[in-house]
Amino acid sequence: MKPSVYVTRRIPREALEFLHSHCQVRIWDSDDPVPRATLLEEVARAEGLFCLLTERVDAELLDRAPRLRVVANMAVGYDNVDVRACTARGVMVTNTPGVLTETTADLAFALILAAARRLVEAARFLAAGQWKAWGPMLLTGQDVYGSTLGLVGFGRIGQAVARRARGFDMRILYYDTRRYPEAEQTLGATWLPLDDLLRQADVVSIHAPLTPETHHLIGERELRLMKPTAVLVNTARGPLVDEQALYRALREGWIWAAGLDVFEKEPIGPDHPLLTLPNVVAVPHIGSASIATRTRMATLAAENLVAALRGEVPPNLVNREVIAAS
Ligand code: DGY
Repeated sequence: MKPSVYVTRRIPREALEFLHSHCQVRIWDSDDPVPRATLLEEVARAEGLFCLLTERVDAELLDRAPRLRVVANMAVGYDNVDVRACTARGVMVTNTPGVLTETTADLAFALILAAARRLVEAARFLAAGQWKAWGPMLLTGQDVYGSTLGLVGFGRIGQAVARRARGFDMRILYYDTRRYPEAEQTLGATWLPLDDLLRQADVVSIHAPLTPETHHLIGERELRLMKPTAVLVNTARGPLVDEQALYRALREGWIWAAGLDVFEKEPIGPDHPLLTLPNVVAVPHIGSASIATRTRMATLAAENLVAALRGEVPPNLVNREVIAAS
């Protein structure tokens, strides 16, 4: 008998077909998130859970899921999953690293350019009929070419942004809790303590995971260290930045602009204070949103899930300690 799995959202066809060929699939067949109550009911019978970063997988859910063996998160970040609680119950957790690196780095770079050069503000100005004549200082921004990039987090995505920055002749600084000697060589990157990086960078781009230690990593103190001409970009997780402090920083000119793909509490609506500021470029968590990449992420999550249910070690197992414990 095929193992039963629950899929929490409509996903690309390829991934769903793969799941159907190996499992009995129940799905929340919608583009809207599954209601929590439905999810808690559905996991009661599931051996595998295919979920997204919008689902909280915590002790409450796990207590309702006595048959659960694997949680396959369709994201590289897994701060929505209580990994320790999963491990304690012998449940494997998997994520989707690698396949979204370049797509996310593309978006980070798009936000760097858009925020520094005021692209959204300029497009709105034009569309509103405000363009009367070419002006020497009209909508002038900051140069990206030849400036200094500070990467906070230098894993796969941070390094992919650094590769793009080399084409813009940028000086590359990074802060990470670990050093990457090889990448320092190949990318010409220099490790600095966070405070020094913030003081020196013209562009700060965040690529760190969200953990209890990185929550509000960038707060008022850190924003005040940055240059008044600096741009802050966040494509990682919203809670890495203290949004209230960021709002003040942007309004009061402690920094120049921000490019944001992620927010402290998602989704945000049109009344969010940051959206009232002209020097914010904001998009709705679309870092990995290319058709090809989202299809690869879904397929990889499905492969992880099926491998775990077959009793194999899935390719992207997050909690290796679960194997040792079993
Ligand atoms: C992730 O994978 O963690 C992103 O935030 C969604 O692509």
